[in-house]
Amino acid sequence: MWRPDFLFGVATAAYQIEGAAAEAGRHPSIWDTFSATPGKVHNGDTGAIACDHFHRWEADLQQLADLQLDAYRLSIAWPRVVDERGAPNRQGLDFYKRLLERLQSLGIQAFVTLYHWDLPQCLQDRGGWLNRDTAQRFGDYASLVSRELAGLVTAWCTLNEPWCSAYLGHANGHHAPGLKNVRYGVEAMHHLLLGHGVATRALRSNDSAPVGIVTNVNAVRADSQRPEDLQAARLAHACANSWVLDPLLLGRYPEELRELWPGIEAPVRTGDMERIAVPLDYLGINYYFRANVRSDGAHGYVERMLPGVERTQMGWEVYPEGLRDLLLGFKERYPRLPPIYITENGMASDDRVVDGRVEDPQRISYLRRHLAAVDEAMRQGVEVKGYFLWSLLDNFEWAYGYERRFGIVHVDYATQQRTPKDSALALRDFLRQRKAGPRAG
Ligand code: FCB
Repeated sequence: MWRPDFLFGVATAAYQIEGAAAEAGRHPSIWDTFSATPGKVHNGDTGAIACDHFHRWEADLQQLADLQLDAYRLSIAWPRVVDERGAPNRQGLDFYKRLLERLQSLGIQAFVTLYHWDLPQCLQDRGGWLNRDTAQRFGDYASLVSRELAGLVTAWCTLNEPWCSAYLGHANGHHAPGLKNVRYGVEAMHHLLLGHGVATRALRSNDSAPVGIVTNVNAVRADSQRPEDLQAARLAHACANSWVLDPLLLGRYPEELRELWPGIEAPVRTGDMERIAVPLDYLGINYYFRANVRSDGAHGYVERMLPGVERTQMGWEVYPEGLRDLLLGFKERYPRLPPIYITENGMASDDRVVDGRVEDPQRISYLRRHLAAVDEAMRQGVEVKGYFLWSLLDNFEWAYGYERRFGIVHVDYATQQRTPKDSALALRDFLRQRKAGPRAG
């Protein structure tokens, strides 16, 4: 059912796995600051040590090969490769160079994200994403890494989930830098997307690898057929999905944002929307759940937990059909929709090692059903070129700390012992069979 060139991979992000937060010239990011602030992260957890991947990367990459994976999506930590004055940090660059060279020698394709939320704190001190200049600094950083790492990367990704950086970071304060003002969210989003445009140009001038962006999307269900709930669902869909995709693929922000946040406008200057809508070589889609929403009685919406549905450790509804429906919807709405990679999909469960084994049947079923949903969308004409599971390892799950386990490989944080879960072994067997298939036939 899967074409031989369809890629199966796993994804991680620098701050969630690397640790070594103060080593080899790395300086703090906004997540170091945020997680060190009491009350911001569950249990006071931080990414200071995480999975200690900075020291264990060789064994972790070998794990990818052992699991028969075609591709690996990782991110580069901006504060590791650029110092506080904006100059290159050789030690940091060399770390990623060695890592990418090893992936190449293992025959694993590297999908490299430049910004998975770890803005250097020194840039935050100058306003961060509320300062338009940060988009230019992001372009400088993109230019540096693409000069240094050209030829080692299969595909570049500028931003991971700008929605989360903008909304969770600046409007509701759940993520770093922890600001709580919708106006800030709208401004940050614009500068992030502008940064994507600036970085895309820089990447393309140094390397021929495809360039894309990764966005999170949500399926949305109206709580009832009452007009006000249908309207709430329309606004929730616009906020969750079109706020990022419309500027990238249509060159404009969705009208619904004006209904949702009257009087708040993005700080658009002449030429910005053209820069943002620069053609993409691919689009990365991260999908996790469906939200059930109803009217909040004013012009917004609130979520209501649907009773009696399957959920994960995060409390997120398991709804694979949502992924298929969203992909089909995007194909209809966006004539310029590029080929798609599912760059994240996965689930958290309270996994434990018992006699050397981790049983995670819900994850195996989740994976199967989401892959079937992708397959259906492909059969109905959506071009999907690969699927990355989130995540290789249990890791620092942002505001939830280490309690929520998304890995297909279990991590014992006291010993850093890795144990592949049943889901990892099932995936390995499936990929092994797939590779053997054509030869056997
Ligand atoms: C996504 C993030 C990723 C991970 C998963 C569970 O929003 O991109 O880093 O935390 O959620």
